[in-house]
Amino acid sequence: MTVHFIGAGPGAPDLLTLRGRDLIATSPVCLYAGSLVPSALLDHCPPGARIVNTAPLSLDEIMAEIAAAHAAGHDIARLHSGDLSIWSAMGEQLRRLRALGIPFDITPGVPAFAAAAAALEAELTLPGLAQSVVLTRTPGRASAMPPAETLTAFAATGATLAIHLSIHRLADVVADLSPHYGADCPVAIVWRASWPEQRIVRGTLATIVAAALDGPGRTGLILVGRVLAAEDFDESSLYATGYDRRFRPQTADSPFAGPSDDAA
Ligand SMILES: C[S@@+](CC[C@H](N)C(=O)[O-])C[C@H]1O[C@@H](n2cnc3c(N)ncnc32)[C@H](O)[C@@H]1O
Repeated sequence: MTVHFIGAGPGAPDLLTLRGRDLIATSPVCLYAGSLVPSALLDHCPPGARIVNTAPLSLDEIMAEIAAAHAAGHDIARLHSGDLSIWSAMGEQLRRLRALGIPFDITPGVPAFAAAAAALEAELTLPGLAQSVVLTRTPGRASAMPPAETLTAFAATGATLAIHLSIHRLADVVADLSPHYGADCPVAIVWRASWPEQRIVRGTLATIVAAALDGPGRTGLILVGRVLAAEDFDESSLYATGYDRRFRPQTADSPFAGPSDDAA
């Protein structure tokens, strides 16, 4: 018996990995975080599967479901939205499973920030503008932020910011970031990226609060950075004509010429 943690992706049912789909299809129990996991994914469950929405359950109640399936020898497909490596509450479940000696494995998923970038048709790292993406959030009722992890601290780097769980604090986000990025810095909000009801609002730090006033709820991602509206950026060296590299040596005496470990 194994608990299969599966990243369910950002919302579109076909943004689930093939491995995730197959594990759902072979697991007689499915526990899913119903607030964001689309119900269409449950169509992959085998006939007669026990399907439980864990959104209203406590951690103890979730562990009781897992313990019961473990006792019966039933695999579990455990679905969380996006990828499991960020804000999934997987860590506390893994800690309990390790303590109980219950086996598990983890299948990654498409995170919301990647789906939002795709919706915006944007690369979040552009040469000369930003080479880092900070995945962050603002404090919530249930989740304080470590003291050093402030938006202003991240803003000091000029990196592209992907701010989760913070739509309701948009005015605070703008106030924190404007001194660092400038009022004209591009901002985009993507609500429900990849869902049929996906919505995008673009603006700047000066205009985004007014532009987002009638936004459809809290499931949205705030992206901030010069990359969002840039056309004037350098091309990467990687594909530049004449750039000497391992996969494209330019001369016979290039240090990259000759057989390599990767040669077919
Ligand atoms: C609890 S976190 C889950 C993050 C998820 N594990 C991931 O990999 O993206 C929920 C937050 O992620 C963002 N989010 C999740 N799904 C989204 C989507 N389809 N479109 C836009 N933002 C989304 C929102 O900021 C939301 O408040």
